[in-house]
Amino acid sequence: MAKDTVTITDNATGKSIEVPVLRGTHGPPVFDVGTVYKELGMFTFDPGFTSTGSCESTITFIDGEEGILLYRGYPIEQLAEQSHFLEVCYLLWYGRLPSAQELSDFETIITHHTMVHEGLRDFYAGFHRGAHPMAIMVGVVGALSAFYHDSLDIHDHRSREISAHRLIAKMPTIAAWAYRYSRGEPFMYPSNKLGYAENFLRMMFGFPTEEYEINPVAAKALDLIFLLHADHEQNASTSTVRLAGSSQANPFACISAGVGTLWGPAHGGANEAVIEMLEEIEDARNISKFVAKAKDPNDPFRLMGFGHRVYKHYDPRAKIIRKSCYDVLDALKLDDPLFDIALKLEEIALKDEYFVERKLYPNVDFYSGIIQRAIGIPTNMFTVIFTIGRTIGWISQWNEMIGEKGLKIGRPRQLYTGEATRDYVRIDRR
Ligand code: SDX
Repeated sequence: MAKDTVTITDNATGKSIEVPVLRGTHGPPVFDVGTVYKELGMFTFDPGFTSTGSCESTITFIDGEEGILLYRGYPIEQLAEQSHFLEVCYLLWYGRLPSAQELSDFETIITHHTMVHEGLRDFYAGFHRGAHPMAIMVGVVGALSAFYHDSLDIHDHRSREISAHRLIAKMPTIAAWAYRYSRGEPFMYPSNKLGYAENFLRMMFGFPTEEYEINPVAAKALDLIFLLHADHEQNASTSTVRLAGSSQANPFACISAGVGTLWGPAHGGANEAVIEMLEEIEDARNISKFVAKAKDPNDPFRLMGFGHRVYKHYDPRAKIIRKSCYDVLDALKLDDPLFDIALKLEEIALKDEYFVERKLYPNVDFYSGIIQRAIGIPTNMFTVIFTIGRTIGWISQWNEMIGEKGLKIGRPRQLYTGEATRDYVRIDRR
């Protein structure tokens, strides 16, 4: 038998097939089961994709056992320390770090795409004032394809690049306007004089009646949050974007599908749920009661911000954010009791056999809300912030797939366990 194959044998028929093993740069090898149905007449079965690779990718790598995260080969710790969000956007899209001139040109392009079509302003007026900002994001992002017809040719690389520039640039404007709309406050237009995070803060909290003073600590913390959320292999929302893209839908529709998926509390909605959980715990003395609830198999409550499908070790992003919490709270001379509860909850959970046995550690969402609160972001905007950061990951993964030769529509099969074939019964005989 060839070394780089796996033999699959159907013991019921004794038929065996050999399928190829494919090895990547890092991480476990895979075996290609594309011919299994044709050869054995059986489908593979893996609800939740716990052991299934859906694609080949060169963008991001996670080692869940070691707590490693690489963007285009660069460790997240080094990027968090030495890079910034727009440079990481360039890296994820183009696959390499830019020269100083390339970065300056890229930042200029993004800056000049931050405005949105005036018709989109009116779009907000249709929403209920109390709408969750993620509901507005799903709607407005999907509507971009009704305004930007000139960059919808998905088979044209330049069109894809323009759509990516537009999405990276316009997300902060769309997001800030969702917040302003919910408060009945005037929309602030972006300023070409400001950096990416600064512009967003001014659109969120500035007023046309006065100069807005940017807090550099808040801007730096926000840029770090965007950077840490930029991409994460084939998570649920990225897989949604890929599946939507495989039908050759336009990029704005695909990203809107990703936004909707990210909203779920098991995914990007967890950062909002963490703060709600910490507020419900309210006092460190209540922690053990919540930990017991989280461990109770009959209680659907889970410790929000804990656990991960891939990380069976500390989420490296959580480590970086936790450190940044100290720096930001210290720099802003803030004392957030929820941070103290979070630290205590982490300490207790990481010693508890239930969490140790299941390798449940804090993930990126556990601490990100603490920083966002410290810089004034309201809780219901946390997943919107995640959306701004993840847009570059979604559109880069979409671009990688669309650019592949032989793009096929994603169409999983199933195990049918419903009714056997039966004849229709007329209503007068039922
Ligand atoms: C993100 O995929 C990504 O990369 C996502 C993300 C990204 O950047 O895109 O990293 C962002 O979504 C982070 C995750 C945010 N979600 C949460 O914090 C919500 C709380 N976490 C859980 O819902 C859960 O941990 C998941 C959804 C994150 C992972 O679920 P899995 O991999 O399907 O694991 P599982 O549900 O099969 O759990 C395994 C065991 C179970 O117990 P047993 O049935 O074995 O007895 O661990 C238990 C679970 O009950 N468990 C938890 C728990 N998470 C898992 N028990 C209590 N609290 C938890 N948080």
